[in-house]
Amino acid sequence: MGRRFVAERRSDRYYRAAQREGLRSRAAFKLDHLADRYPILRPGFRVLEFGAAPGGWSLIARRYVGDRGAVVAVDPRPMDPIPGVTHLRMRIESPNLGERLNDDRFHTVLSDMSPRISGAYATDHARSVDLVRAAGAWAVELLRPGGSFVAKVFDGDLLPLAEAELAPRFRRWQRTKPPASREASSEMYVLGLGFRGRPDRADPGGAVESAAPATDPAAPPGTRYIDRRIEPDSLL
Ligand SMILES: C[S@@+](CC[C@H](N)C(=O)[O-])C[C@H]1O[C@@H](n2cnc3c(N)ncnc32)[C@H](O)[C@@H]1O
Repeated sequence: MGRRFVAERRSDRYYRAAQREGLRSRAAFKLDHLADRYPILRPGFRVLEFGAAPGGWSLIARRYVGDRGAVVAVDPRPMDPIPGVTHLRMRIESPNLGERLNDDRFHTVLSDMSPRISGAYATDHARSVDLVRAAGAWAVELLRPGGSFVAKVFDGDLLPLAEAELAPRFRRWQRTKPPASREASSEMYVLGLGFRGRPDRADPGGAVESAAPATDPAAPPGTRYIDRRIEPDSLL
C-alpha cells in the first residue's frame, strides 16, 4: 500500500466514519444514502446482494430489513459472518448459483461488484458493464413484481446498451452518484424501481412506486450530483 494512498485514506471522511462506526467499508455510506432516498430497503425485505465482501453493504442492508427480512450475499472473497446474512462464497457466473438461490424471490437485488482493475479504461468499463448485465439477469429472474435493482457501473459508451436491455423491465430507471462515491471516479449506480414482472411468468404489475426527490437535500455543499432520469420507452 503506497504512502500517498494511506495518507489519502486517513483524510477521507467516509473512510474514517466507516472505521469509527464499525462499518467494514466506506462503501456502506453509498448504500445508506441510496436507501435513504429510494424505497429499496424496507423492514421485512428479502435482499440479494452481489459483490458483498467485506460486508459494508450487507451490514447496512441487514439494519434496514431487520429480523423479519433476509440478506443473501454473493461474493467469492471471504467475509466475517453477519447475523441474518447468508454468505454464498461464489462468483455470479457460478453454474451452481441458481441451485443455491433455490428459486427464492427477492424485493431488491443489489450489486456493488467491481471487476479486477486492469488500468485500461475500455477493458475495465466493458467488464463492469458485463457485471451489471449478469446482476440484471438475476434481477429479472428473481425479483418480485414491484422490486428494485441497484448496480454499480463504471460509466462509458457501452452502458446505454445494457440500460436498453434492463430499463424497460422497470417502471422507473435512473443513474445516480452518491456523495460517498469519489468525485474523480467514473463509478456511478443505475437504479431500476418498480420491476414489471417476468412476462413468461405472467407476474402481475409492480406495486412499489417510488417518490424520490429530484435533488438531494442530504448531499454536502458542493457535491456534484448526477441524477438523470431515463424514461424506459425512450431507450427502445
Ligand atoms: C467494491 S467491493 C464490494 C464492497 C462491498 N459492497 C462492501 O460494502 O463491503 C467489490 C466486490 O465485488 C466482488 N466481485 C467481483 N467480481 C465478482 C463476480 N464475478 N461475482 C461475485 N462477486 C464479484 C469482489 O470480490 C469484491 O469483493
